[in-house]
Amino acid sequence: MAYDNILVETNGRVGVITLNRPKALNALNGELIAELGRALDAFEADAGIGCIILTGSERAFAAGADIKEMQPLAFPATYTDDFITSWERLSRCRKPVVAAVAGYALGGGCEIAMMCDIILAADNARFGQPEIQLGILPGAGGSQRLTRAIGKAKAMEMCLTGRTLTAEEADRYGLVSRVVPLAELRAEAMKVAETIAGLSLPSVMMAKESVNRAFETTLAEGIRFERRLFQALFATADQKEGMAAFAEKRGASFQNR
Ligand code: CAA
Repeated sequence: MAYDNILVETNGRVGVITLNRPKALNALNGELIAELGRALDAFEADAGIGCIILTGSERAFAAGADIKEMQPLAFPATYTDDFITSWERLSRCRKPVVAAVAGYALGGGCEIAMMCDIILAADNARFGQPEIQLGILPGAGGSQRLTRAIGKAKAMEMCLTGRTLTAEEADRYGLVSRVVPLAELRAEAMKVAETIAGLSLPSVMMAKESVNRAFETTLAEGIRFERRLFQALFATADQKEGMAAFAEKRGASFQNR
């Protein structure tokens, strides 16, 4: 498949998508978002892929939605075309996605990072929702996902003033899973993704679904949901293999079914 705004490669069972509009600091235009959707469709349909990495350049993960593309938009078209809703494709990805973030993750860039399951940040990463400075507000879930991730006090300051967070602050606030030196970001992300991709895909996908359910339901309902998935996994060959391998003191060899 041909792409103009992203690079797509595979490394064993890991699929890597690199945002690639360097001259615009990976600003997210309609074409890029459509390509990202197609790349996710392809990786999801590929039984050989167990985990996906989403990354950008050393200078920018993504500096937000493409402001020049948005500038002439007027309300009727944003409504009839349901502008931004297509971005949610990433949040509907059922396979795990690791965001490897270096440089700017601003506006839509921060929002797509938050749609991923794990965020690894390079020490030069900067996270922010500066939309307020453009006379708008976060439009790809930022006001919601950021608030759930770091709480109202900190999210409100970011959304109302546009203040950006350093990688160290993002780590301390719980927005990212950890910070690594810039030079090690890709290798660390690959290590995490390879670990996940080597596990049983049904259990990985159900664990992702179960954690995400915590944001959408009550504790009692969430626990019932988790319990059913937990019980269902005892129907898989991988549960038999994982537990036999433990008992036999050997490494497990999962069939991913
Ligand atoms: N849209 C379009 N173009 C962008 C862009 C964006 N979001 N961010 C950067 N660019 C372009 C710049 O226009 C510039 O292009 P030219 O060379 O053609 O002038 C190029 O990328 C390099 O950018 P700068 O010269 O500005 O680089 P800098 O190092 O001086 O500054 C920056 C970097 C602080 C990230 C600055 O580019 C910036 O503030 N960008 C905009 C950030 C922003 O407001 N993001 C939110 C967008 S709105 C949104 O995302 C809505 C939503 O919720 C979905």
